[in-house]
Amino acid sequence: MNPAMIPIHVLNGPNLNLLGRREPGIYGTATLADIERDLRAQAEGLGVTLTVRQTNLEGELVGFVQEAGLAGAGVLINAAAYTHTSVALRDAISGSGALAVEVHLSNVHARESFRHVSLIAPVCAGVICGFGPDSYGLGLDALARLMARRRAP
Ligand code: DQA
Repeated sequence: MNPAMIPIHVLNGPNLNLLGRREPGIYGTATLADIERDLRAQAEGLGVTLTVRQTNLEGELVGFVQEAGLAGAGVLINAAAYTHTSVALRDAISGSGALAVEVHLSNVHARESFRHVSLIAPVCAGVICGFGPDSYGLGLDALARLMARRRAP
């Protein structure tokens, strides 16, 4: 890999494989493949190399975070339902030293109260939610800036 490129892992949690057909009134009609395609186009212009992953399993998501964090890659994460429940995920972010940005398609604060709490937000650099697929693009831009600043001499 070109060392000048910024490595970022885009990690997606449970049920995000169903995007496009899952509650389109809330999550829209874009699929995860559509989102990935747009992110890859954006990443080229930002000098970012992307790894994009999705899993429905909490432990696997923990493993993905550890892998990215220990490799020094940034983490753009939509942890989906595990956002609101997973101490293990929070510990993986802080324990691996990952620089992470949390994203959500929907505005979680305008929804059920159990979605108002994020266990991972305190160990993320920031949170972007409510902009549909653009939440990912905005998050990628923010994370690339943070990573570039962290690398600057
Ligand atoms: C979500 C919001 C979560 O509350 C929910 O469990 C999801 C998707 C979002 O992107 O809006 O699965 O993370």
